Amino acid sequence: MALIAMVSAKGSPGTTTAALACTLSWFQRTVLAECDPAGGDVRAGYLSGLQVPTIGLLPLAVAELRGQTGAEFPQQLVDLDSQQPGHRLLLPGLTDPVQATSLAGSWGRLADFFSSLESIEPAYDVIADCGRLTTSTPPWPLLHRADLVLLVIRATSLRTISPAVPAVARLRQELTTHARGAGSLAAVLVGSEYPAREVEKRLQVPVLGELPIDVRAAGVLSDGGRLSGKEALLRAAVSLEADVRRHVATYRTSLMTSVEARRG
Ligand SMILES: Nc1ncnc2c1ncn2[C@@H]1O[C@H](COP(=O)(O)OP(=O)(O)OP(=O)(O)O)[C@@H](O)[C@H]1O
Ligand SMILES: [Mg+2]
Repeated sequence: MALIAMVSAKGSPGTTTAALACTLSWFQRTVLAECDPAGGDVRAGYLSGLQVPTIGLLPLAVAELRGQTGAEFPQQLVDLDSQQPGHRLLLPGLTDPVQATSLAGSWGRLADFFSSLESIEPAYDVIADCGRLTTSTPPWPLLHRADLVLLVIRATSLRTISPAVPAVARLRQELTTHARGAGSLAAVLVGSEYPAREVEKRLQVPVLGELPIDVRAAGVLSDGGRLSGKEALLRAAVSLEADVRRHVATYRTSLMTSVEARRG
């Protein structure tokens, strides 16, 4: 498994919280790359108690233009877990949405770099928080290259599910036109008032799991504080890892099968 892109539609808050919950709880070494063109949230939120220098995505993109991505990458990371150094890392996002325009030409190469981290020793998965699809500059090349595009849907009512319908249509069209089809597309629900089966039927997209509404844990992930690891939100994120891995493995197998079938 390599690159997982998380995105949301209108009216579905929870992407950064979900991405951070997964980064802090998955077994596999993980980098959370804040690729939301509207700006990163973690520095001023979960890490607000720390003085985080202005490192991260923008300096990495500058290094990428000089062909120095690999050498600069370790300098641009914040370690999120003092108990297991190097296991859970953060690439902080932009501090101003204006910076997103300068990244437009770099998303594809940055995505290729993130994907390559699966093959180094030790290997890393990258969870890219890509923000809302409704921004004017979604990081499309990154979404095209992702092994999994995970649409985060607040499943509390028809009002929050409905904007996911055009979002799925747009993602499907993008992935079919610019990537290897829409097999990389799936959803994760936040809240379970609206059953996963119903969402799958309505959107025609597999739902890989559900994260509960957990106001306390989400509050810590958004604004800082202490977590025990036993919170319902973190436990659900732990379970999601296996489903995500299964989905990526199935998708990759289907790609290989179709390549072999074409070869004849
Ligand atoms: N599972 C959850 N349970 C309870 N509250 C949640 C949950 N997930 C997110 N929230 C709350 O919703 C708000 C928005 O969450 P978050 O920052 O993750 O949304 P987002 O999709 O990243 O938003 P944006 O697109 O603005 O970056 C925060 O106050 C957060 O604590
Ligand atoms: Mg966010």
